[in-house]
Amino acid sequence: MRQDSHLQRRIEQKLDTRRQQKLLRNVSAFHHQDGKLFDTDNQPYVNFSGNDYLGLAHDPSVIKAWQDGLEQFGAGSTASPLVTGFTRAHQHLEHTLCDWLGFERALLFNSGFSANQAVIFSLLEKQDVLLQDKLNHASLMEAGMLCDAKMQRFPHNNINKLKSLLQANEQTPARFVVTEGVFSMDGDLSPLAEIRAACDEHDAWLMVDDAHGVGVLGDEGQGSAHLANVKPDILVVTFGKAFGMMGAAVLCSEQVHDYFTQFARHYVYSTAMPPAQAHALSHTLSMIRTQSWRREKLSALSDCFHNELKNCTEVVDTITPIKPVVLGDVEKMQLVASNLKKDGFLTGAIRPPTVPVNTARLRITLSVNQSETQVKDLAVLLRRCIEEGE
Ligand SMILES: Cc1ncc(COP(=O)(O)O)c(C=O)c1O
Repeated sequence: MRQDSHLQRRIEQKLDTRRQQKLLRNVSAFHHQDGKLFDTDNQPYVNFSGNDYLGLAHDPSVIKAWQDGLEQFGAGSTASPLVTGFTRAHQHLEHTLCDWLGFERALLFNSGFSANQAVIFSLLEKQDVLLQDKLNHASLMEAGMLCDAKMQRFPHNNINKLKSLLQANEQTPARFVVTEGVFSMDGDLSPLAEIRAACDEHDAWLMVDDAHGVGVLGDEGQGSAHLANVKPDILVVTFGKAFGMMGAAVLCSEQVHDYFTQFARHYVYSTAMPPAQAHALSHTLSMIRTQSWRREKLSALSDCFHNELKNCTEVVDTITPIKPVVLGDVEKMQLVASNLKKDGFLTGAIRPPTVPVNTARLRITLSVNQSETQVKDLAVLLRRCIEEGE
């Protein structure tokens, strides 16, 4: 390969810039064993950084359901859904999702990223307007930037600004509003009832990405829209967080389902998820629905966390398992994260561009796998690190 090509130099420059800004990201390998998380040096950690809120990723009955699925359906789906990739395991999962979440139809995707992009790319056309909360996930933002419609972003959870944008776009053929139900880096909820009312007033559609709400909120874990008593036109749920697995579903009406089946390229031209996975997901869904003790435990851990960190202004109070600790400065945040790590606590070290400049934070997440003692120990250490400025 030529070393002096333009592309090569550009790559070097961009990596250098990230390095100088101390924003270079790295991938590390971990492994799970006997309920613990180990790094490559075999150091054990309590995991306060993942999204396995309900503690299902290593649940023996979920693993057994995957194994049963493999026995019954084999390793792969062998094709896209419209060819032969769609099986009765997929069909059963779709029906169960519809029954649980109150929609006519569901379509399965291999990731939340592709589900979000499929919806936005296939529904919106040039004259339309897409209105998004500024803190929406990268998959939604990227789709908004690349789709044919005009995208406008409203300040986080600012309903008045959203209303004025809807008003200003009254003449556009279609208005489409997208928000997360629970914001992934902030752990707060979107004012869905007010957004739904504003959409109805201006004849706009509402899409909710509930990646972090589903499983965790609502009596049976139906998520943030159910909690707010709101029915979005499109609901996206993902299986990589509270389900402890991977994949996603788009919930919608019969007609919109038929439309996506024709025009959503991420659906039509992508191999369907393995049927064994769909089979295991149906099992996990029934656990999420019926095992409310998991949500109760999360809520007890949340109370414990906030009680221990009362008056600590950096800690944002949330009702979800996502607990941001906003430290602002990247180096300070990294120091605190590495001190917690030395003591065996793994937290998410989140820096720009994932979050806005000057809002570098620890993203601490609670999980049913943790004990109250572990949460207390983390909180005591965290307070000390923050107070001592390290
Ligand atoms: C709000 C939100 N939407 C979508 C996604 C993407 O989902 P997936 O990981 O299944 O691609 C994520 C994952 O980080 C997310 O936080």
